[in-house]
Amino acid sequence: MKSEPELPFLRFVAPGVRTLRPYEPGMPVEELERNLGVAGAVKLASNENPLGPSPRVQEALAEAARGNLALYPDDGAFRLKAKLAALHGVSTAQITLTHGSNTLLGLIAQVFLGPGRCGMYGEHAFACYPLVTQAQSAEAVVVPSLPADHPQQPYGHDLEGFARRLRSDVAVIFIASPNNPTGTWNAPDELEALLEHVPAQTIVVLDEAYYEFQEPDYRPRSRAWLKRHPNLVVTRTFSKAYGLAGLRVGYGLAHPRVTDLLHRVRQPFNNGTLALLAAEIALDDVEHVARCVALNAHERARVREALHALGLRVLPSQTNFLAVDFGRPAAPVHRGLLERGVIVRPMASYGLPNFLRVSIGTAAQNDRFLAALREVLRCHSPRDCE
Ligand SMILES: Cc1ncc(COP(=O)(O)O)c(C=O)c1O
Repeated sequence: MKSEPELPFLRFVAPGVRTLRPYEPGMPVEELERNLGVAGAVKLASNENPLGPSPRVQEALAEAARGNLALYPDDGAFRLKAKLAALHGVSTAQITLTHGSNTLLGLIAQVFLGPGRCGMYGEHAFACYPLVTQAQSAEAVVVPSLPADHPQQPYGHDLEGFARRLRSDVAVIFIASPNNPTGTWNAPDELEALLEHVPAQTIVVLDEAYYEFQEPDYRPRSRAWLKRHPNLVVTRTFSKAYGLAGLRVGYGLAHPRVTDLLHRVRQPFNNGTLALLAAEIALDDVEHVARCVALNAHERARVREALHALGLRVLPSQTNFLAVDFGRPAAPVHRGLLERGVIVRPMASYGLPNFLRVSIGTAAQNDRFLAALREVLRCHSPRDCE
């Protein structure tokens, strides 16, 4: 085969981007149906909300879609920011709204990372942290996880390890609590101890994407911490408990000076009119969020028990997903599930090839997953079961 001629502009590609591997999203249902010819597939691969958005959001969107979408959205997001400020006890000058919280992680890296600076995160941490660090050609300091046999948080973030590895060139520390893909979390006291320890020059990003799914005692006390730590950035999303992943709305809470810096690099009009409206209305429907959280807690316990009954180890989770240990490479199980129309997430790219991550769905979706899994595990190899 003829090799492609070298394209001269490639010499200007940023060093970090040269070897960057793009984020691997969960497989869309349509793709599975197209590729494997299975109908009625179930996706439990991207930690989405199986109940979807509040019915009030859906009604408001239908109405708003008939409005004037030729106009740009409110760039200052006045109404949504006012609601968020009241909810979190912060000023609107502390809020950055972005197109999903992933985008905000990228903006933080754009502002604070670059060659000669380091981004620090845990082994098995959310995939976007290495991605945004490397995209800025910054160095990564990866903190080894707690051991696999840790009694409370196997494979969890070792915050004492973070403190021990701090260096003067660490510009940003990324911590998700709870973390994706492990589901493990750090107790508020532990997080607070790290915040007290980190030098004031280092930004600490506390990613609270799964905040609403946590039991109250485990939830970070971010409102108080933001007052004491101008280097803290808290990130939240409407993609999980609010069921708005398709509309892409996330936000950050931070000191006004940090917020000002983030605003300098965000694109104008970075949230669409319908997305802003949906987020506003979603915030008001607290009963819907409570329903989603209750369904998740109930189903997560039920799925965990069923997995235990199959002899599988499941990591502790305060999220809307479970990390399941198959004790051997999980790729054939993943393939077997796909062939039965169930999409879950492999974790090999997270350094956990024996694991699969399954999102918690409705009771019917979870039953479908469990039935498919029982079938796959009964087979010597999934291929034998066809
Ligand atoms: C820990 C964590 N942070 C951030 C995100 C990004 O969410 P979004 O960009 O949809 O707001 C995710 C998504 O799965 C996540 O798991």
